[in-house]
Amino acid sequence: MDTKAFFKLSYGLYIVTSKDHNHESGCVINTMTQVTSEPSQVCVTLNKENYTTQLIQKSGVLNVSVLLEKVSMDTIRQFGFQCGKDVNKFEGIDYEEDQNGVKYLTQESAAMFVCKVNKTVDVGTHLMFICEVQDTKVLEEGTVLTYAAYHEKKNGTTPKSAPSYVEVKDKTGWRCDVCGFIYEGETLPEGYICPICKVDASHFHKIENLS
Ligand SMILES: Cc1cc2nc3c(=O)[nH]c(=O)nc-3n(C[C@H](O)[C@H](O)[C@H](O)COP(=O)(O)O)c2cc1C
Repeated sequence: MDTKAFFKLSYGLYIVTSKDHNHESGCVINTMTQVTSEPSQVCVTLNKENYTTQLIQKSGVLNVSVLLEKVSMDTIRQFGFQCGKDVNKFEGIDYEEDQNGVKYLTQESAAMFVCKVNKTVDVGTHLMFICEVQDTKVLEEGTVLTYAAYHEKKNGTTPKSAPSYVEVKDKTGWRCDVCGFIYEGETLPEGYICPICKVDASHFHKIENLS
């Protein structure tokens, strides 16, 4: 199998949110797809370990914010690299609540989808939630963020003038093709699992010279 074929697939980037009685969370996903138009159905696929997944399983409702290209990396970090069990995902974020009481982003977001889970499919490491779309709203016009654009941004060099610039030379590493996490080292440890999105080693590809 030529795993490079997977890089030919195009995706968008989204933040899916959910809540139960006392808890709430949200996480970055690239796995939202429209399933049917009549009735309006979409599906999202989330890792079983995600806190958001557990909340969706309990409540049966979720909201999806469609991210704009201008989304800040702080928002991506907050929702894509931290767990809602440890941090308040909505701190410093502009949001409103949908008809199910689920928060959605009113910043950096092109549109939102109010969803009710119709069917849950166990696909091994992940659960696929097939949802009825109860309502939608266009929030802001602008270029929506594609997964490819996210990677281009992430790979973009930091200007030397920026305070965050760090010079790294002659190092190799492995990049997760799901979330972009970089493992620094010549060899990926056997049975390695991405600490961010929990996919296995087959999703890592080698990159030379991390600078
Ligand atoms: C670019 C990007 C794409 C991601 N795509 C997915 C995805 O499709 N499914 C998933 O379960 N997690 C995905 N993740 C990882 C989750 O967003 C991340 O594990 C999050 O911290 C989970 O938060 P939670 O535990 O509060 O739910 C992605 C992360 C990033 C940065």
